[in-house]
Amino acid sequence: MPARPDIEAEIHARLVPFPKPHLLGVEDLSPEEALRLLDLADAFAGLNELPRRSLELLKGLTQANLFFENSTRTRSSFEIAGKRLGADVVNLDVATSSTAKGETLSDTAATIDAMGCDLMVVRHAGEGSVAEVAGAVKASVINAGDGKNEHPTQALLDALTIRRAFGRLDGLTVAIVGDLRHSRVARSNARLLPRLGVKLRMAGPPPLMPENPVQGVELADSLDAAVAGADVVMMLRIQRERMDASVAPSPEAYAQAWGLNRDRLALAAAGAKVMHPGPMNRDVEMDSTLADDRNVSLIRDQVRNGVAVRMAVLASLAARRS
Ligand code: CP
Repeated sequence: MPARPDIEAEIHARLVPFPKPHLLGVEDLSPEEALRLLDLADAFAGLNELPRRSLELLKGLTQANLFFENSTRTRSSFEIAGKRLGADVVNLDVATSSTAKGETLSDTAATIDAMGCDLMVVRHAGEGSVAEVAGAVKASVINAGDGKNEHPTQALLDALTIRRAFGRLDGLTVAIVGDLRHSRVARSNARLLPRLGVKLRMAGPPPLMPENPVQGVELADSLDAAVAGADVVMMLRIQRERMDASVAPSPEAYAQAWGLNRDRLALAAAGAKVMHPGPMNRDVEMDSTLADDRNVSLIRDQVRNGVAVRMAVLASLAARRS
């Protein structure tokens, strides 16, 4: 493992100001800018392996996390990332906030902003809601998931995880399978991975296919067809909270037709890996034995790399503001 001074030097060498005032979607980044951000995240991943992991790149800055939808991974990793870089981090407790009294999203965001906020991380159920916040505040806003629209830092951490596992992105075949219709993770990955040289395939039950065609993405009509020859198979959660109960499949029927198990993974390329953005419905989208097998599963790597990617995004946005 490189020594800490070398890692710090690498971080400083790779840190460039973020190209836009906010990160609202992956298309805010050109392919070159996305790869540069992954290079920086790689350096942060090195720092995160050390026993002492803090830096002071955000010292004196305030980061507010506004999560109007539930989250374990994204919210915790943004909090850890901000604190690791020395920011003062505030988590709005939405349940006890004045949102319950009818305050609008923009008014809530503008109120936190008026207290002196530099970086604002927002998750909300409304598509386009985070862009609306960006128009109402002075802080740099990061989209942590807006309804079915985008989850850009998830796509970046997925790209980083694949690149760290395979040493490259270019030329790999990635299959994304499951509830595509309601998935902001699928949408952000579909907008990012093909631009980085990945051949992207998608498949899911007909009622859960995307409403509109996705440019640059091959659609397969079964799990087996999607998995055949793939280097990575990413399974998606069935988002019951976003779907009409009439189209929600039973867990048993779903696992039978669309659940990934070892027999089906045998159709993939030799050395194929499995991913899931989480949270996972165990033994529905993927067999537990597969999800927990560290020889094939990159799920824990995705979580770990999420911290590094979010450190890279926060540090780059802060660099733009200084
Ligand atoms: N992948 C993801 O966004 O997970 P959380 O909902 O736990 O943040």
